[in-house]
Amino acid sequence: MDYHIADISLADKGRLRIEWAAQSMPVLNQIKERFVKEKPLAGYKLSACLHVTTETASLVKTLKAGGADVVLCASNPLSTQDDVAAALVKDDGIPVFAIKGEDDATYYDHIRAALQHAPHVTMDDGADLVSSLHFIALDKLDGLHPSVRDWAKSLDKAARTALVEKVVGSTEETTTGVIRLRSMADDGILRFPVIAVNDAMTKHLFDNRYGTGQSTLDGIIRATNRLIAGSTFVVCGYGWCSRGVAMRASGMGANVIVTEVDPLRALEAVMDGYRVMPIAEAAKIGDFFVTLTGDRDVIRKEHFLLMKDGAIVANSGHFNVELDIEGLEEISTAKRKIREFVDEYKLDDGRCIYLLGEGRLINLAAAEGHPSSVMDMSFANQALCAEYMAKHAQELDKKVYGVPLDIDNEIARLKLAAMGVTIDTLTKEQESYLHSWESGT
Ligand code: NAI
Repeated sequence: MDYHIADISLADKGRLRIEWAAQSMPVLNQIKERFVKEKPLAGYKLSACLHVTTETASLVKTLKAGGADVVLCASNPLSTQDDVAAALVKDDGIPVFAIKGEDDATYYDHIRAALQHAPHVTMDDGADLVSSLHFIALDKLDGLHPSVRDWAKSLDKAARTALVEKVVGSTEETTTGVIRLRSMADDGILRFPVIAVNDAMTKHLFDNRYGTGQSTLDGIIRATNRLIAGSTFVVCGYGWCSRGVAMRASGMGANVIVTEVDPLRALEAVMDGYRVMPIAEAAKIGDFFVTLTGDRDVIRKEHFLLMKDGAIVANSGHFNVELDIEGLEEISTAKRKIREFVDEYKLDDGRCIYLLGEGRLINLAAAEGHPSSVMDMSFANQALCAEYMAKHAQELDKKVYGVPLDIDNEIARLKLAAMGVTIDTLTKEQESYLHSWESGT
C-alpha cells in the first residue's frame, strides 16, 4: 500500500485518540453500523481531502465500512494529526498522504496522490481536489502547483479527460470551498454535481458556530496561555464561525469588538451586545485579533502599524490569506519563534506583534480542531451525502446542491435521540392549523 505519513510508530497513540473521539460520535457510529451491512459505496473509489483529525478518522472508517476504496490527504499543511494518520494506515489499511507541517510541494504531492487514485467521488474541505480536477479538465495545467502539473502533463489528453469524467460527484465541507464551487457553477465550468455539506443546518449551525467557537479559543489559549478575561478581543466577521468565537470570548470575560462589512450582520452584532467599529479603530485597542471571514487582507500592514505592543493576531478562516503576513514582514525589523505556534515580529519602534500558527487555522494548528460531538453531525452529513451521490449522481445536473432536507432532519433527530432529548410532536389539530390558510379567523 502506498502512503506518506510522518511516523507509523505513532499508531498506538492515534488509535486511542480515535477511540476517544468516536465515543462522542453516536450518529456517525450508527451510520457505520448500517454501512457495514448494506455496503452502499461498494465499487466506488473515493478521495477525501480533509483535515486529518480523530473525527476524520471515524468518517473515513465509515466510508470504508460502506465498501468505498478510500484515500485520504490533508486539506491544510498544519492540521494533520500524525498519530491519527499512522493509525489509519496501520490499523485500517487506509492510504493516508499527510504530514503535519508539510511544505507546499509536499502538500501538493499529497493532493496529486489523491487524484492518482482516480476517484468516482471526491470529498473536499476547501475545494482543492475539485479545483485541481477543473484545471485539468480545462487544460489550464500551468495554473496547477508544479507537483500536480508535472504529473498531469505526463498524462495524454485522453487520460486526463477520463480522470475527470470518472468523477460522478463531490461533496464540500466548508464555506470557502462552497464559495469557490458556486463561482465555478456561475462560470458554467462545473463538470459534475457537488453537494454543499456546509449548507446543511446540522453542519453550519453547530460546527461553524459552536465547533469553531470553542476550538478557536482553545487554539489561542494553548498557543499563548494568556488570560482572556478582561482583554479586548477583536473578532473580524460576524458570520457563523465568528458568532461562535465572539460568544465564547465574551463568555470568558473578554470585551468583544466585532468588525464587519455587511450591515445586517453588523447590526446583529450590535444587538447581541458587542461594540462594532472599523478594523482601523479596533486595531488601536485590541489585545487579541481573530479573523474568520473567508476574505483576504482583512488585517493589513496599516492596521498592524496601529496595534499596541504585545497584540496577538490569529486567523481561523479557511485560507491563510486573511492576515497580510507579507505586510507584517515588511514593517518588521526582526522575527523570532518565541513559543511553539507563536512568532514575534518586532517593529522599528520596538513594539512587538505576535502572530499565531503562521496565520493558518489556529484551531487546527495549535489545538485539535472541533470537538467530536459537533463533527459527528458534519461527518454524518458527509457519509450520507457520499451515499446519496453514489445512488443519485446520474439524476443530478452539474450544479452545487444543498444537502437533501430529509438527510438534515434525520441527522438532527438521531443527534437528539443520542443526547437523550425528546421533543413534542404536533397533534392532528395543530398539523392542520399550521397547514391551513383558513384557520385563525
Ligand atoms: P460566513 O459567510 O457565515 O461569515 C463570514 C463573514 O465575514 C460575513 O458576515 C462577511 O460579511 C464577513 N466579512 C467578509 N469580509 C470581511 C472583512 N473584510 N471584514 C470584516 N468582515 C468581513 O462564513 P463562515 O461560515 O463563518 O466561515 C468563515 C470562514 O471560516 C470560511 O473561510 C470558512 O471556510 C472557515 N471555517 C473555518 C473553520 C475552522 O475550523 N476554523 C470551520 C468552518 C468554517
